[in-house]
Amino acid sequence: MESPYHSDVLIIGSGAAGLIAGISLAKAGLQVLVLTKDAVTESSSAYAQGGIAVPLALNDSPEKHIADTLKVGQGFAKPSAVNFYINAIKPAIQELSTWGIDFIGLENGKLQAENCLGQEAAHSARRILRVGGDLSGRSLMKSLWETACRHPNISISQGTSLLELCTNSSNEVIGGVFQDINHNIFQLYSPAVILATGGFSSIFSKSTNPYTSLGDGIVAADKLKAKIENLNFVQFHPTALDKQPLFLLSEALRGEGALLVNGHGVRFMTKYAPEDLELASRAVVSAAVWQEIKNTGAVYLDLRHLPGNFVKTRFAGIYEHCRSLGLDLAIDLAPITPAAHYTIGGISINHEAQTSLKNLWAIGEVAHSGLHGADRLASNSLLECIVSAFAASQSIQGQKQKVKFEEYKISLSPANNLSSQSGQNLKTKLWNSASFEKTEKSLNNLLAEIKQIKSQLPANLSSNFEVNEFKKQVLMSELFVLSLL
Ligand code: FAD
Ligand code: SIN
Repeated sequence: MESPYHSDVLIIGSGAAGLIAGISLAKAGLQVLVLTKDAVTESSSAYAQGGIAVPLALNDSPEKHIADTLKVGQGFAKPSAVNFYINAIKPAIQELSTWGIDFIGLENGKLQAENCLGQEAAHSARRILRVGGDLSGRSLMKSLWETACRHPNISISQGTSLLELCTNSSNEVIGGVFQDINHNIFQLYSPAVILATGGFSSIFSKSTNPYTSLGDGIVAADKLKAKIENLNFVQFHPTALDKQPLFLLSEALRGEGALLVNGHGVRFMTKYAPEDLELASRAVVSAAVWQEIKNTGAVYLDLRHLPGNFVKTRFAGIYEHCRSLGLDLAIDLAPITPAAHYTIGGISINHEAQTSLKNLWAIGEVAHSGLHGADRLASNSLLECIVSAFAASQSIQGQKQKVKFEEYKISLSPANNLSSQSGQNLKTKLWNSASFEKTEKSLNNLLAEIKQIKSQLPANLSSNFEVNEFKKQVLMSELFVLSLL
């Protein structure tokens, strides 16, 4: 009998987590199908700047990295997960080197010079391993795209959005329902499904993420009652360049000496974090920037005291981007705003990246592994993507039993119309009432508005792509606001 399955593994999302898992599984001989909402090149991973936290320096150790991670997590990180992830990163980096990824300063797994590593906030040592320059994500992803797109065991379907997961009558995951940008809806079945859909920072109007980060994977898993944790912990990055579309000014700039000054030209972190100053943890710096914008009208990142040539060469990608907007970082103050940056919570996973649902793995930002707590240590996210991707690959390769296949029925509602402004309006409401300034009253009002919007949306899937996308955004916004109350 012909197999009902379309591939050995279905991977939803083409960021670092999805592609690393895909390549690893394909190298092991499995047939992999990657579905991704936009082009394969669109993901938060491709926007990453600093790099990957790896304890490689002579004055560093996994123990120090673990201690820094736990400190930033403020009691909410899980020590067993922190140990597991940080001890797994060095071998994972060695494996990625064999795939041709060009880590700066790393030869045969050995660091050539410590100043190849970047410094970021709340790290007690230089620890940020970079790929190809200051836009590490783009270089890392370019290598992964090239490898994945050329691998004979990997097929990639772009412009294809997950609407919901397919299950059998035992609530075991057997595939997904997808819609392409031409509104076609179809099911794909697989004995192993990996969610790698990233976070939900783009439910806010101010976000460093691409628009695709709307929490689709979390919404799909929540519908099946998967265990989900800590959605209330959203990380705000303090320094996005305050010009639309927002562009991140990496923490690595502050790691190399950039300062923060308020609208009166006064350095203010002395008041909020007298010891760590601009390199205090993200939560502290973001709240300080928010307050100073309120008090003095603006906040700027100041690199003018650093040697111009250093700024232009060490941060070539960031420098050039700002130049294209008419801002010379070596001469001008850069206006900044905090912005939603990273989803700490997500779908709970164990060390094998298995969720609470049979046959469903979750990796990268969509997952909650316990590595991060109330806040996340900079550059620990790509670390988590890499380690969870390899863990899922190992787990799937070792999988013995196939789940029972059953045809999954789709329920469709009649199409209804949607104003193109709806999504943007909701994002602005989230930013105004559920980011820095939130009260129980503002959150309850917002929740009531979200429920009202939800009541006008179709109960089932719509034949209209935009309606389905908006509905997922509404459901994610509701889950987030509920997590705050
Ligand atoms: P993503 O890279 O976000 O990929 C998610 C994928 O899922 C995308 O391809 C998306 O299109 C797809 N998708 C979403 N919904 C659907 C759907 N319904 N159907 C199909 N596909 C879907 N972390 C670090 O450790 N170091 C850094 O230096 C760093 N810098 C950063 C800079 C910026 C500007 C940003 C935004 C983040 C940064 N981060 C950094 C965080 C880190 O980049 C992300 O956490 C990480 O890349 C997430 O990877 P991922 O593979 O889990 O998800
Ligand atoms: C940055 O470069 O500031 C972002 C790093 C991160 O989010 O880990």
